[in-house]
Amino acid sequence: MTDKDYFTFKILRYDAAEPDIEPHFQTYKIRVIPGLTILMVLLRIRDEIDGTLAFRSSCRSAVCGSCAMVINGKIDLACRTQAASFGSNTIILEPLPNMQIIKDLVVDMTPFWDMYEKVKPYMIRKGDYPDKEIAQTEEDRKKIDQYVNCILCACCYGACPVLARNPDYMGPAAFAKLERFMLDSRDERPDNFLQNVDSEDGVWGCDTVLRCIEACPKDVRPTDSIVGLRKQLVKNKLFGKGKNED
Ligand code: FES
Repeated sequence: MTDKDYFTFKILRYDAAEPDIEPHFQTYKIRVIPGLTILMVLLRIRDEIDGTLAFRSSCRSAVCGSCAMVINGKIDLACRTQAASFGSNTIILEPLPNMQIIKDLVVDMTPFWDMYEKVKPYMIRKGDYPDKEIAQTEEDRKKIDQYVNCILCACCYGACPVLARNPDYMGPAAFAKLERFMLDSRDERPDNFLQNVDSEDGVWGCDTVLRCIEACPKDVRPTDSIVGLRKQLVKNKLFGKGKNED
């Protein structure tokens, strides 16, 4: 074990319950071995060095979406990022942008969930829901594959430059979820449902700079959904066509 095995972790500390103390970086030295993830580093700091450090995690397997943060300037999941992967032994950890810090690396995700709720992120049927499952062809399922992969980590929300200047913008994850249901052969939401996103706070506000695609740890492409929703809105206006119609 040598000095170079020890990495410096600079972690942004702030507690909204103590607003008089400005956000500041606190430094920890941790020995890094191959395979050690950023989440493992945080758990070690919290369990062995500083029990006051706050961060979210659950699955440790890039599934639950709770450990998103900024790692050396890049938004990613702490549980899938290896500490030794940066070519530097100094690593800076900050909370996700575009949301208020509650404590340290924990942000208030209320605005993210509020926007998500606006698109009614569940299947809507015209009549009664059938007793059995609704069959779907393989071809129809493929249309929604990428969007089903979303784990609601809010990496895209944190990376979005539009949200940085307009907190009323609905954000990439909400659009990706809406498109997931618009493309779903089993969903029967009313044709005028897209009115909910037909505004500058909706799909027309996107800068299409693709930061959401770069940030997504699950290879979802929210910009594709925005383009799809915009096209459908134009079709509806020109031809009065609704969901699933050419
Ligand atoms: S802990 Fe679940 S995604 Fe990282």
